[in-house]
Amino acid sequence: MKALILVGGFGTRLRPLTLSFPKPLVDFANKPMILHQIEALKDVGVTEVILAINYRPEVMINFLKDFEDKLGITITCSQETEPLGTAGPLALARDKLVDGSGEPFFVLNSDVISEYPFAELIQFHKSHGGEATIMVTKVDEPSKYGVVVMEDTTGVVERFVEKPKIFVGNKINAGIYLLNPSVLDRIELKPTSIEKEVFPRIAADQKLYAMVLPGFWMDIGQPRDYITGLRLYLDSLRKKSAAKLAAGAHVVGNVLVHESAKIGEGCLIGPDVAIGPGCVVEDGVRLSRCTVMRGVRIKKHACISNSIIGWHSTVGQWARIENMTILGEDVHVGDEVYSNGGVVLPHKEIKSSILKPEIVM
Ligand code: GDD
Ligand code: MG
Repeated sequence: MKALILVGGFGTRLRPLTLSFPKPLVDFANKPMILHQIEALKDVGVTEVILAINYRPEVMINFLKDFEDKLGITITCSQETEPLGTAGPLALARDKLVDGSGEPFFVLNSDVISEYPFAELIQFHKSHGGEATIMVTKVDEPSKYGVVVMEDTTGVVERFVEKPKIFVGNKINAGIYLLNPSVLDRIELKPTSIEKEVFPRIAADQKLYAMVLPGFWMDIGQPRDYITGLRLYLDSLRKKSAAKLAAGAHVVGNVLVHESAKIGEGCLIGPDVAIGPGCVVEDGVRLSRCTVMRGVRIKKHACISNSIIGWHSTVGQWARIENMTILGEDVHVGDEVYSNGGVVLPHKEIKSSILKPEIVM
């Protein structure tokens, strides 16, 4: 089987992290977001992943070359010269997606995380005989998503409304689809929205089906949702493979520590923390609800909560970092500095406190 991942876009909502890497390569739980998806696709027998991309393809391809061999999967790029939206890229990649087998293919938004229940999706898709299946999930605030009104027993989608202004329902498009090749006949090679133009038409023909996604789901394309997503991911990891989580007197709740990271004496870490490869966490550090990316050093007695610390940054001793502070790559925070929601661009040195949420350029 094949899969196409929609990778386009600049990832502006996840700046400053996306100033250093395209969004799909931003680490989540110690692994680039897109690798979580590629590994799960591989597990259900996908042999080729096509990245539909319109921004810095060379960075993605160079990075993923290593994983092609490691995972034994082919990764190719389909590059747009102008952004083609969420459907146009399927028309552009038509020749790669269709191989005459008639097999359905996966399409994924690149910024969604879940347990990726792809096997269940294949099974449901094959059982209903429609043209397309989308996974849906329930959320409290449906207006920022695509809302799906479906017949609960059969899964037939009655309506699909992208970012509705008035309440339509609370089941939303999770950005995970399985489509028959015939869907490609409905898409022209031009900027097109799959949510606004393609799904409503398939629904009108009663050939669009939806399946409620089991387990957790999150679009992690914004800092707050990224941090919530880590909590949900670690909860799920606790249920499925608790041995991967850190244990010990210094650990509270769910914590992921890369095997190459070093943790000092007298630290208190957790809940909901990920510490990446090569990190050094010195003595007496307190971490909760945060992500510490590859190569970071956190000096003695620093305290970090609800924040993301970008690659190779350092946090000085007795510093206090909180309230959605996002440090870009290679940021250096001085000793005893306080950051309340600072968003700091890459390669900066912070010598004085950031007292209210603001962007530091
Ligand atoms: N190749 C390519 N070209 N990809 C694109 C383009 C483009 O022009 N525009 C967007 N994408 C990719 C994004 O990178 C992302 O992976 C995916 O398409 C969806 O775009 P977002 O910008 O993240 O959309 P959204 O989060 O507002 O809404 C979408 O996702 C929701 C779930 O998270 C929609 O699919 C909603 O219906 C859905 O509920
Ligand atoms: Mg999104």
